[in-house]
Amino acid sequence: MDAIVVKGSPTPLQGRIRVSGAKNAALPILCATLLSDGNSVLRNVPKLRDIDTTAALLRFLGRDVSVDAPMVSVGETRGTVRPEAPYELVKQMRASVLVLGPLVARYGRAKVSLPGGCAIGARPIDQHLKALEAMGCTIRLERGYVIAEGPNNGGQLQGAEVYFDMPTVTGTENILMAAALAKGRTTLLNCAREPEIVELARILNKMGAEVDGAGTDVIHIKGRARDELAPFDHAIIPDRIEAGTYLIAAAMHEGSDVVVEGADLSDLEPLLVKLRAAGVTLTTEGHDLRVQRTRPIKAVNVTTAPHPGFPTDMQAQFLVLMARARGESVITETIFENRFMHVPELHRMGGEIALRGNTALVRGVDTLYGASVMATDLRASASLILAGLVAEGETEVRRVYHLDRGYEKIEEKLNAVGASLTRVRNAEG
Ligand code: EPU
Repeated sequence: MDAIVVKGSPTPLQGRIRVSGAKNAALPILCATLLSDGNSVLRNVPKLRDIDTTAALLRFLGRDVSVDAPMVSVGETRGTVRPEAPYELVKQMRASVLVLGPLVARYGRAKVSLPGGCAIGARPIDQHLKALEAMGCTIRLERGYVIAEGPNNGGQLQGAEVYFDMPTVTGTENILMAAALAKGRTTLLNCAREPEIVELARILNKMGAEVDGAGTDVIHIKGRARDELAPFDHAIIPDRIEAGTYLIAAAMHEGSDVVVEGADLSDLEPLLVKLRAAGVTLTTEGHDLRVQRTRPIKAVNVTTAPHPGFPTDMQAQFLVLMARARGESVITETIFENRFMHVPELHRMGGEIALRGNTALVRGVDTLYGASVMATDLRASASLILAGLVAEGETEVRRVYHLDRGYEKIEEKLNAVGASLTRVRNAEG
């Protein structure tokens, strides 16, 4: 398993970092290619393990896929479609469940492995299943698989009114895709409002569906017949979480001056507000964002919430910034029940953080110390890299396969602005 060794340094970061395309937009959009035949092209796709897993899944389903980052083409169906997502692929990436809606809508049947729990929480998919049932599906669970069948033994789904008990990102996306091929109108209530959902709706409209209201909590969809949607050619939005991670990387050192290129600024607003409150200077330069740190960081409280609240995917990185701030901050995680796995690792680096249920009380310290630490999920891994940037000595972040799921060329990008990250192949796990 690879590790990354970060050499801590007091020298500030200077230069430019370009943001890649958004992983969490690319994944559902790749699954949306299942809604039509013909050749769809997706541009600005990051080179990441999750993209390769999705490509493998689409190939398993019978599509011709070529990945040549930053371009992915999904071609015609080879032979017959096998509407099935096996455990081997789903266990590598929970987002594989995003083929469920498109498959059952298009082919009247789908067999998709249940993803199971993961490091950050139980993460059930009951809301996805409840919505499909409302659209006329029969759902059965058999030996770890969800088996969904359209009305009357594989017929077209029916438009329906669906209320989500909580805003769910992939749940909203799955049902949006299913509704694009359902008979009549579907209304989704209490939807997630993340920018990646707006991006998916844009694609569905390009394909010929009628989606209205994405980005608000009520979405209306007028579905089409199963053979009516067209393939698409689209460049995806920048990755707001990757951009946010680099903003915090720069904010870790006093004296840093970094331009994060191509960050879509409106999508980052909840994070920018908190960074400004912490004393970081942020200046918009066209589509770029300049981040300068000229003074010590102030302690700021943060509570994660569905968009447009503070993103849970930025919680670990922000907590690390607070671990070096002046004073005490309270970080509350409301989305996932187990998303503080980075905290015990930060303790090993000298962080003073107390956990009370879903709240972390963070007392800023002057010095963090390099140590061997282990990443347990994608964003936790990123946060440990950020801690390593300013720690005294070397930090070895182990099991960086998590990081490789979501950060394209992180060593190259951070080293270009003055950091020192070295990948060690086949390090100890
Ligand atoms: N939930 C349920 N039932 C459901 C669906 C969700 O109880 O049927 C709960 C979850 O357990 C969680 C909450 O609802 O407590 C919100 O979960 P959501 O469904 O929104 O999460 P997700 O769709 O599985 C996506 C991102 C995550 C990101 C979350 C929250 C993708 C591929 N994944 O996950 O991204 O943290 O939304 O914003 O879009 C990451 O990129 O590191 C990552 C984990």
